[in-house]
Amino acid sequence: MSHSVSQYIAYKKIFDGKRYPLAFVDMQLLDENINQLRHRSGKTPIRIASKSIRCAHILDYILNADDQFSGIMSFSGEEAVFLSKKGFDDILVAYPVIDKERIVEVCHELKKGKYINLMTDKPEHIRMINEIGKQNGIKIPISIDIDMSVDFPGLHFGVWRSSIRKPINLKSFLEEIKEMEFVSLEGLMGYEAQIAGVTDNIEGKWLMNNVIRALKKISIKKIASKRAIAVKMIKDMGFELKIVNGGGTGSLESTINEPVITEVTVGSGFFNSHLFDNYSAFKHKPAAGFACAINRHPGEDIFTCSGGGYVASGSIERLKLPLPFLPEGARLLENEGAGEVQTPIVYKGKETLKIGDPVFFRHSKAGELCERFNHLLLIRDNQIEMEVPTYRGEGQCFL
Ligand SMILES: Cc1ncc(COP(=O)(O)O)c(C=O)c1O
Repeated sequence: MSHSVSQYIAYKKIFDGKRYPLAFVDMQLLDENINQLRHRSGKTPIRIASKSIRCAHILDYILNADDQFSGIMSFSGEEAVFLSKKGFDDILVAYPVIDKERIVEVCHELKKGKYINLMTDKPEHIRMINEIGKQNGIKIPISIDIDMSVDFPGLHFGVWRSSIRKPINLKSFLEEIKEMEFVSLEGLMGYEAQIAGVTDNIEGKWLMNNVIRALKKISIKKIASKRAIAVKMIKDMGFELKIVNGGGTGSLESTINEPVITEVTVGSGFFNSHLFDNYSAFKHKPAAGFACAINRHPGEDIFTCSGGGYVASGSIERLKLPLPFLPEGARLLENEGAGEVQTPIVYKGKETLKIGDPVFFRHSKAGELCERFNHLLLIRDNQIEMEVPTYRGEGQCFL
């Protein structure tokens, strides 16, 4: 579907009589993204990054869409237990859990036969997990997160996460794990954020786009070699890996080329928040959005909406603001951006806008949309198919 005025009218009609602001998922566009992401991943299994969804119904929907989707990449221990209790399984918690009570809860789920794997990169992490495993009489599956950043003169290209940055760090970490009776090393994760999460096709930024593409090209080779060395070292030290996880929405094409990879992760590509419009290698559909009602008309072409200030996390830049996308041509004002309770937009297009009409926006980050809304309205064939709770709608607020 193109974002023409008729698309605006179609969406407006679907939500007629609903209370604004509201959040929605266009299930037909989600289906298109699901298919395209499968295609981009080749035959590599896809783990779903729940942080970019934050709605159990949608997680379940994607998992059931095809066998290629298997497992959840969770963003907190509490979330992993919440999902496990709901019936989800094969959960890789991708960030260290340092809350003892949560690890005890993970033990309870493991004892029920569930698979939850905890991420580590410091001796403190494994010592705590080992101690709690011992107290609860169970071996806890763990993974190691290795740093995938690449340093160029004057530039740290990547993110600051794992302390395991060099083979020597990995070796001593593995030696420590060998001594632990109640942890079972089963996974290796390396997230190449500088490929997966850095846009390289921003309109009007020709020079920057080209520099980033060149840096990405060099990084891809270094990442593959780093991951291969790590896998070999882990195997040589007698561990058997079930999971070698890498990538994200923005890096599928390069991550699947690495022979050691057993699975890729995808989150943002399902809803395709607008940050992911700016990549040269792919184009997904705008499957999720939110609508705010116009409640003021202070200037000829200026319409002020109630709500809308849902700014995304991460580096500080314009791209983190929501993007008005329907009616086509609507844009935010430089001086006001998206406001805490009011968001003015400029619109000079053909559509006649009046008080009470919606303006449709897309969030910059996929899962953060659901932290603003209790429900998602799922639409298909120009009607509302169902309304489902987000994590927030289920009273959950993990991070
Ligand atoms: C460990 C890890 N894997 C994968 C991803 C990619 O997720 P997405 O597809 O939402 O970009 C992220 C995003 O931050 C991550 O932290």
